[in-house]
Amino acid sequence: MDWQQYIVSIKQAKNSSELDALELQLFGRKQGLLTEELKKLGTMSPEERKIKGIELNALKKNLEDAIAARKQSLVHATFSSLKETDPLDPTLSLPPQPHGHLHLIPEFIRHVEDVFGRMGFDTARGNEIESEEYNFFKLNFEKDHAALDMQATFWIKDQPGNVLRTHTSPVQIHYMESHTPPMRMICPGKVYRRDSDATHSPMFHQFEGLMVGPDVSVANMKAIMSEAMRALIAPDIEFRFRTSYFPFVEPGLEVDMKFGDSEKWLEVVGCGMIHPNVLKNVKIDPKKFSGFAFGFGVERLLMIKHGIGDLRSFYEGNTRFLAQF
Ligand code: DAH
Repeated sequence: MDWQQYIVSIKQAKNSSELDALELQLFGRKQGLLTEELKKLGTMSPEERKIKGIELNALKKNLEDAIAARKQSLVHATFSSLKETDPLDPTLSLPPQPHGHLHLIPEFIRHVEDVFGRMGFDTARGNEIESEEYNFFKLNFEKDHAALDMQATFWIKDQPGNVLRTHTSPVQIHYMESHTPPMRMICPGKVYRRDSDATHSPMFHQFEGLMVGPDVSVANMKAIMSEAMRALIAPDIEFRFRTSYFPFVEPGLEVDMKFGDSEKWLEVVGCGMIHPNVLKNVKIDPKKFSGFAFGFGVERLLMIKHGIGDLRSFYEGNTRFLAQF
């Protein structure tokens, strides 16, 4: 066997399939030339095997080295020739692509769901088109009550009695009608009012929360709201509770917040103990159960958190503004 000729053929292999064929001829498990030689060792006398063994192993190493070296140079040749045939440089790293991210409103809402979720609050979604019944009257607004003027409402053409919901509070009613106490729920979403200036938009976001149980108190409400605001806005946040009026709560409260080195109290949320009439409207016995409810404005909280001056910047789609968050 002219092994030297094989070494020459290996060195001259023009491409990897030629090289693979040679490798198979020599080392193939069945009838590979060298494999067969190595098998013969088993039939030899010990002295003969020793001498032949050393010889064959040296040969085997030479052939293997030659194959490995040729493989390496073929790969190299392939890449170098790409320079002419295909000027794309596969080793060049590209400039980083810009990545998008969630808008700060849905991002904040996810955070809200997460923080309240960990305190056992279920997330509910209501309808953006709501009946007057749910938007107002089941929430204890009286038909001719001045409170109806509190909210400039969008009525829907050709759908008497339907409105774009003016707050997320009607979700309280839907939720209490379809669940039994004890319950804890938050419901983030869009709400609509006929307002438009630097601090009012015809569409904005709120999240409502409620908790109903055998003896839920104002203290529970304060604890839950403070805990959540510390996680959502700032750990050093302070609160001030003032009495206020909303038809669906009694007592009704408004909450002011301040944090960091700000001296100013900012009004952020309406809340209170769910009015007995509202509980009756959803067939919950106010003698057995009590509950609290609150309604936060999402944009308002974000404006305070990030020091944003104009509400309209949330909706303008200016990526230089949005990319800051
Ligand atoms: N729905 C009220 C509004 O949009 C906010 C509100 C006040 C919600 C008191 C509540 C509450 O749940 O208890 O102005």
